[in-house]
Amino acid sequence: MVILDGKKISNQIKDEIATEVAQMKERGEKVPHLAAVLVGNDGASLTYVGSKVRSCKRIGFESTLKHLPEETTEAELLQLVKDLNDDPEIDGYIVQLPLPKHIDEQKVLMAVHPDKDVDGFHPTNFGKMALDMETFISATPYGIMELLRRYDVETEGKHAVVIGRSHIVGRPISILMSQKGKAANATVTLCHSRTKNIKELTLQADIVISALGVPHFLKADMVKPGAVIIDVGITRVEDKSAEKGYYITGDVDYENVRKKASFITPVPGGVGPMTIAMLLKNTLLARERHMAKAL
Ligand code: GUN
Repeated sequence: MVILDGKKISNQIKDEIATEVAQMKERGEKVPHLAAVLVGNDGASLTYVGSKVRSCKRIGFESTLKHLPEETTEAELLQLVKDLNDDPEIDGYIVQLPLPKHIDEQKVLMAVHPDKDVDGFHPTNFGKMALDMETFISATPYGIMELLRRYDVETEGKHAVVIGRSHIVGRPISILMSQKGKAANATVTLCHSRTKNIKELTLQADIVISALGVPHFLKADMVKPGAVIIDVGITRVEDKSAEKGYYITGDVDYENVRKKASFITPVPGGVGPMTIAMLLKNTLLARERHMAKAL
């Protein structure tokens, strides 16, 4: 069994980006600038955004955090989005999800300029992704693909079962893995809450990608020996004895499933760090595209 070490690979990718940024600086070019918008004080979102901003610093990017109060109105947020679209200093930005309930998420994501949409959530970018066109691929599915590629995991002709149909992970990864190319060419089944017998399907899977958010959902008796297991779940489980008052766990019953798997991602240290690395990669790409347009 091989552990797909997302932490190690994400550090490699960050080092590669840092080298490119250093070269940009040497040539006297502007370095990539990522902005992150966070509305409210959701604990997990604060952690993710903090981590994204710290990673920018480490690799030599400029970064800006726009932290707005929970009571921010939709109109105020839309104005900020417009300002970021118009700001030539900003190469790309993200609006951290989830947004407070009184804000229409779709309306906000639609307002992000596709050329700065390094999350790849805008319909233009999602559509391009689905049509095999060059675009920003959402960081989590992009990170999963990159992890599979860098470990040379065979996916061609394999049966990949994706659990969860979210716009951010399940839906895009099911499209990407069915496309042509490395870490793709798989036969994909997308399971969701209305799927009749998930276990029957996961037992046939050569690759299981679980993006459900239910701790320990995928048990050892649900996987075929030798399967590749990708755990996208990151759930905080309350634990008074833990230092932070919670611990982080994935969708997979890791200790038991790992004994049957050929490759498996741990949580934490699997898909999570890859998401951040690929967001940075998209931001570098955004900078390069903006520069090419200006020439
Ligand atoms: N919330 C959970 N994952 C993500 C992500 O990849 N991007 C943004 N903007 N919000 C998220």
